[in-house]
Amino acid sequence: MTQDRIESRKVALLAGGWSDEREISLASGRACRKALGEAGFEHVDLFDMAEPGVVSRIEAGGYDVAFVAMHGRYGEDGCIQGLLEVLRIPYTFSGVRASAIACEKEMAKTVYRAAGIPTPAGVVVKRGERPDVAALVESVGLPAFVKPVSNGSSYGITKVTAQEELAAAIDLAHESSEGALVESCVVGTEITVPVIGNDDPEALPIIEIVTGAEFYDLKVKYEPSSLHHVCPARLSREAYEKAQEYAIKAHKALGCAGISRSDFIVTADGVPTILETNTIPGMTETSLVPDSARRAGIEFPELCRRIVEMALEEHGRD
Ligand SMILES: Nc1ncnc2c1ncn2[C@@H]1O[C@H](COP(=O)(O)OP(=O)(O)O)[C@@H](O)[C@H]1O
Ligand SMILES: [Mg+2]
Repeated sequence: MTQDRIESRKVALLAGGWSDEREISLASGRACRKALGEAGFEHVDLFDMAEPGVVSRIEAGGYDVAFVAMHGRYGEDGCIQGLLEVLRIPYTFSGVRASAIACEKEMAKTVYRAAGIPTPAGVVVKRGERPDVAALVESVGLPAFVKPVSNGSSYGITKVTAQEELAAAIDLAHESSEGALVESCVVGTEITVPVIGNDDPEALPIIEIVTGAEFYDLKVKYEPSSLHHVCPARLSREAYEKAQEYAIKAHKALGCAGISRSDFIVTADGVPTILETNTIPGMTETSLVPDSARRAGIEFPELCRRIVEMALEEHGRD
């Protein structure tokens, strides 16, 4: 890195876009712009990626780094990352490959299993396939969760409690994805574990997610009033450390950079079972990662500054 202060780098803040999570992404973008300003960044421009001509404006802008505050399709799945590679602009969070693998639930589960991280049993039904529902129930049990393989915003997810409900749940998941993942239901404490770093990542304090809802769906996710964070999560010391260890393993096995946030359910016998890894977690002031970082003594502006620093370290190499 050259000698000039990191805060003098020109930052393109990318938000919005076309995914189901457009609104939360715009909120993340606004929050990060404010935080970067408070951290002393002198030049931060916020772009809504759904606007026509936006890519040429970014290319012409001479930016030193892109801060990607996008979630879901196109923003978190490697597409924007590929664009930034081609434009040769260093960018925050994970690269093309890790982003693409993490948001494809079937692929991510293969990586978790290879890394020795427990993940629920699951079977994928492709669009157009006629599933044998009795055999599905036989292999994953009931209740089961049915989700789009490649979405990632709790849209199209159903908790199925009877065999008769399975076909409709699979159809719903197919509306937004080529594959429907039918997964065993894990009962226990839902937690999320942020991990920060590139080559030598560390886990941040674990947050326990408490909700009155049937599961952590979009409504509770983005309506903070109906969601309650408990930090540090109320787990045995062994389970807590195991979850942090698994989250770091997931970050490394997927090849993540900057920050990742893995979601787990910890069973009554203390086994953290991984559901997914988010490569661009929500970044408003009340979101999970900023909340956890704050408890580790890292205020939101400092967190955003470190994210830019890690981006230049990871993706700024020629
Ligand atoms: N196998 C499972 N067992 C128990 N709860 C689950 C399971 N899969 C999903 N859930 C619940 O549904 C929520 C959303 O599922 P998740 O796989 O994280 O999808 P998304 O990518 O939409 O966040 C989880 O936070 C959890 O509350
Ligand atoms: Mg999730």
